Amino acid sequence: MNRTRTALLAAMAMVAGATGTALAVAPGSPGTAAVPCTVDYEVQNAWDTGFTASVTVTNNAAPVTSWDVGWTYAGNQTITNGWNARLSQSGTEVSATNESYNGHLGTGASVSFGFQAGYSGSNAVPDTFTLNGTTCDVDSGGPTDPTDPPDPTDPPPGDRVDNPYSGAQVYVNPEWSANAAAEPGGDRVADQPTGVWLDRIAAIEGVDGGMGLRDHLDAALEQKGSDELVVQLVIYNLPGRDCAALASNGELGPTEIDRYKTEYIDPIAAILGDEKYADLRIVTTVEIDSLPNLVTNTGSRPTATPACDVMKANGNYVKGVGYALDRLGDVPHVYNYVDAGHHGWIGWDDNFGATADVFKEAATAEGATVDDVHGFITNTANYSALREENFSIDDQVAGTSVRQSQWVDWNRYVDELSFAQAFRQELVSVGFDAGIGMLIDTSRNGWGGADRPTGPGATTGVDAYVDGGRYDRRIHIGNWCNQQGAGLGERPQAAPEPGIDAYVWMKPPGESDGSSREIPNDEGKGFDRMCDPTYTGNPRNGGNLSGALPDAPVSGHWFSAQFQELMGNAYPPLP
Ligand code: BGC
Repeated sequence: MNRTRTALLAAMAMVAGATGTALAVAPGSPGTAAVPCTVDYEVQNAWDTGFTASVTVTNNAAPVTSWDVGWTYAGNQTITNGWNARLSQSGTEVSATNESYNGHLGTGASVSFGFQAGYSGSNAVPDTFTLNGTTCDVDSGGPTDPTDPPDPTDPPPGDRVDNPYSGAQVYVNPEWSANAAAEPGGDRVADQPTGVWLDRIAAIEGVDGGMGLRDHLDAALEQKGSDELVVQLVIYNLPGRDCAALASNGELGPTEIDRYKTEYIDPIAAILGDEKYADLRIVTTVEIDSLPNLVTNTGSRPTATPACDVMKANGNYVKGVGYALDRLGDVPHVYNYVDAGHHGWIGWDDNFGATADVFKEAATAEGATVDDVHGFITNTANYSALREENFSIDDQVAGTSVRQSQWVDWNRYVDELSFAQAFRQELVSVGFDAGIGMLIDTSRNGWGGADRPTGPGATTGVDAYVDGGRYDRRIHIGNWCNQQGAGLGERPQAAPEPGIDAYVWMKPPGESDGSSREIPNDEGKGFDRMCDPTYTGNPRNGGNLSGALPDAPVSGHWFSAQFQELMGNAYPPLP
């Protein structure tokens, strides 16, 4: 964030004026009476008619078991909804009281809550806050005023920056946000940014009266304050889509590459190229699962499927991705990230280098060049743990490597972060730009809750050691559909680790991966038995149970029970 933080001491000045006593206000400095509480009020996103804000309250006095934070607006700000606190407003006076789960605030402890509000005119930060009736010190991020002069360090619009997420807000999809907010407890995450999936031609204009691409971009312009704003799109409509599975088969048959180009990519490129949207940073994640399938699910491999062989032979995945990269890459404010599978897929020696080579082939097909690729995304819509902290690939148990455990099964990587960083280097070594960055989808790889291991497994053997310690509790790492026991992962954030541009929630949590039984639909979606909890598997999951939740709807549709489980097992936990 490049927001400047200004400490406003207006509240203190008022206190001093009222009592005639000069209060020393260096919080924590020895010998001064501590201010009983500190409030940090930050406007996060502001648009013409509304804004979101977060409020962090620190209690510097005796512990409390419930809290009531109050303030008064100078303008007509009207709170519409909030999270992590119960908000009520009477005229200009606002009161935020604790939820049942966050009432206790020890000495020195903080609590944060947020809200969305509408307003017109000015949006000044309130200058006085109270905690249970006592006036607090104010530490404010200052209003995000859309008329703020541009930061002189910002590049001119249109010049790509190294990491589009740095110093930027990320677009909150109002449709996903409303689904999340409608769930009990969902307001704890409803303000998180998630990917907008353009999963069929009709999605460009909007399906069934829903938002189309221009609607999202217009809403993004409204959310955009003076900070940069990233909009995350998923380009997902290749001919013969999802060749190794059935749950996300799409509308285009294997040979319909021309329709892909002219009815799907061209119109998207035209909209993104509209000058109106030149100030948005548009991240496009390109064609989930497609290119890795050409490597691992073709030819003489036991995991091969006829449909993937067809797509390899006709070249339409490679051509489609090349065309998309070239056309979208022509738009100066678009940042293309190619989908790169995940460690439990590409992390084996046989797949690692071969997949990087196929990416190079696609990135130089149909007019594309490696310069059209800004980076890669891993773990999209998958469940691979970000970090396995209780064992590493170099560990041995009684002289046997963990690579020989059933779970790791000779893979070179045990978690997503180590894989993404290593794969970045591999991609650079085959000719991609040294500055490429990785995204990791952390929407559903949290694996928290009561069953999360708290330390390494027993050292009686490699299997006991790995299985006892691993966070990822899937039955087999090849399982991918609506996984039981999964939780929300790291919250979206920029530049969390070297080589990683951002943790993102590209798969919108709560949207199904596929139906648990056959459900007729007009989206081209098939029934994949990997989504059926009674299915006993195939070579791609080592012939294991699927680990899928029961009663799931068709892929992309809202799955309330899964959303609830994801919140319950979130790691880091939700407040
Ligand atoms: C589905 C898409 C959906 C996406 C996001 C995919 O599995 O096939 O239709 O938009 O998930 O939920």
